[in-house]
Order: sequence, then C-alpha cells, then structure tokens
Amino acid sequence: MTTIEETLVLIKPDGVARNLTGEILGRIEAKGYQLVDLRMVQPSRELLAQHYAEHEGKPFYEPLIEFMESGPVVAARVAGHRVIEGFRSLAGTTDPTTAAPGTIRGDLGRDWGLKVQQNLVHGSDSPETAARELALWFG
Ligand code: TYD
Ligand code: MG
Repeated sequence: MTTIEETLVLIKPDGVARNLTGEILGRIEAKGYQLVDLRMVQPSRELLAQHYAEHEGKPFYEPLIEFMESGPVVAARVAGHRVIEGFRSLAGTTDPTTAAPGTIRGDLGRDWGLKVQQNLVHGSDSPETAARELALWFG
C-alpha cells in the first residue's frame, strides 16, 4: 500500500553557500520524490525560533539559530511514499562526521572540526512535525 506523505526539507545556509542546492534537490528527485513547492527564504529569527522550538534551552540552540539566519535557505515541500522517514534516511545522521557514505550529510558534509549544525539539510521527523513545519515555511 502506498502512503503518500509530505515533508519539509530545508537546504541550510551552508548548502546554499556551497552551491549544493542542485545536487541535493537532484538526489531527492532521483529517489522519486516530487518537489511540490520550492522557495528561497532569508529566515527571520521568529520563524527559526518557531521552527526549532523543541530545542530551546539546549546548549546548541543559540549557535544553531545564528547559523540558520546567516544566509538564505531553500525550503522545499516534498511529496512521496513514506517521504518523511525516507528523506531522513537520504540525509543521514545529524553529525556529518558519522553520517554514512551514500547519504547527503555523509557524502557532502564537511568534517573540518566545524560545528555540527552545519549539516546541510533539515527534514521533518514525524507527520505531526511535517504538518507544523510546512505551515510555518509555506503558510
Ligand atoms: P536535531 O533535530 O536533533 O537533528 P536533525 O537535524 O538530524 O533532526 O537537531 C537540530 C539541529 O541542531 C541539527 O541538524 C544540528 C543541530 N545540533 C547541534 O548543533 N548539536 C547537537 O548536539 C544536536 C543534537 C543538534
Ligand atoms: Mg530534527
């Protein structure tokens, strides 16, 4: 049985700055997922605070928000069979150092002692999160 879902994918400022937007969107399309909507955004602190509300108070929260507002972000509404879990699998684990080869973070994420927040992409982690995040970024 097919279960078509939608997820929010963000190409973070490091991905946009490194000209990896096409490479990352290409991997999403090659997997068979559909780009339903796409926009480039300079996110406000308010938007980022809502987006990352679950992490407020954690030690990495402030550097994460500062990094995310450091440049434009590409936001994509992506549809496909079980795409929420599937995109996170394409992205790889959070820390690019240990993300598996073959994943976006594993292949393209840099391990230069850079901060872990520079891990190229965001993907919603559950249907509830996806609905909330898509409403935030696409209204
Ligand atoms: P999280 O939602 O746990 O990871 P993911 O993006 O894989 O869903 O964390 C959100 C972002 O916060 C993550 O992409 C990078 C950053 N982060 C840190 O900088 N340090 C950390 O220890 C963690 C867990 C996350
Ligand atoms: Mg997350």
